[in-house]
Amino acid sequence: MTDQIKIFCPATIANISCGFDVLGVALDSVGDEMVVRKVSEKGIRITKLIGQDLPMETEKNVAGVAGLALLAASDHDGGFEIEIYKKIKAGSGIGSSAASSTGAVWAMNELLDRPFSKVDLVKFAMEGERLASGVAHADNVAPALFGGFTLVRSYDPLDVIPIPSPSELYATVIHPQIEVKTSDSRSILRTKITLAQGIKQWGNVGGLVAGLFTSDYDLIGRSLVDHIVEPIRSILIPGFHDVKSDAIKAGALGCGISGSGPSIFAFGKGVDTAQKVAQSMKEVYKNIGIAYDVHVSKVNIEGIRRI
Ligand code: HSE
Repeated sequence: MTDQIKIFCPATIANISCGFDVLGVALDSVGDEMVVRKVSEKGIRITKLIGQDLPMETEKNVAGVAGLALLAASDHDGGFEIEIYKKIKAGSGIGSSAASSTGAVWAMNELLDRPFSKVDLVKFAMEGERLASGVAHADNVAPALFGGFTLVRSYDPLDVIPIPSPSELYATVIHPQIEVKTSDSRSILRTKITLAQGIKQWGNVGGLVAGLFTSDYDLIGRSLVDHIVEPIRSILIPGFHDVKSDAIKAGALGCGISGSGPSIFAFGKGVDTAQKVAQSMKEVYKNIGIAYDVHVSKVNIEGIRRI
């Protein structure tokens, strides 16, 4: 058995409009790379971190913390070294911390001959999310580990439901280069909602899940509505409403905030539509004068993979 593996860790869109903290999807065309080695020395060491300015101390690094959680639950006598090659910008809203924490625990599990289930790995990776955002949410780490769309039906006990992705569904994501910290964008949310808001929101969650299961693109589009979080968080994202209305005019099924922002995602049927949506989104930020990155991606149904 090999003592080292190299992996691709996908970026992810969390929340997906109506599914705050419960829905997520893995992307195919953007993600980090990591090399993880099993070593005899105990503990976890981050030996390389290229591409982003992030802490390398094990306890301050999301991959380190997630890895320690796995190590504490395993009977492995030694430890692991981790090299992280970041392609996903930290704080972009497409699951940068989740890519690192899931990559660490997925690779460690492979090198130990898979003692843990995917749900176990979600729990370990959630410790990385706790470090990054103050809350151990699972809507980025679950799709990174399972691939495709996932629903966190319950946090206690943890219950992750994989959801199929229609074959022609593409995501377009634009990352305006402004900083929005997940901890800040969580702190502005209200902790109480009205029954009327709840009724609209869970109708859309059910509709979105049904649309994904039946490849009903119109139903997916009708359900990509968020009555609770988006109205508050969109205040932090300049140009959000123009990006959204122009994306829909360009053919997007729906559009919303990716994770805690500032990235904005749209879903479209087919790659041509997704490219047109990307063009419409770029125009908005060109006019406002904010630099951006754009990603057009099919859904990654496999999740983390060896490369
Ligand atoms: N569900 C989390 C949030 C995702 O919106 O705070 C963070 O990427």
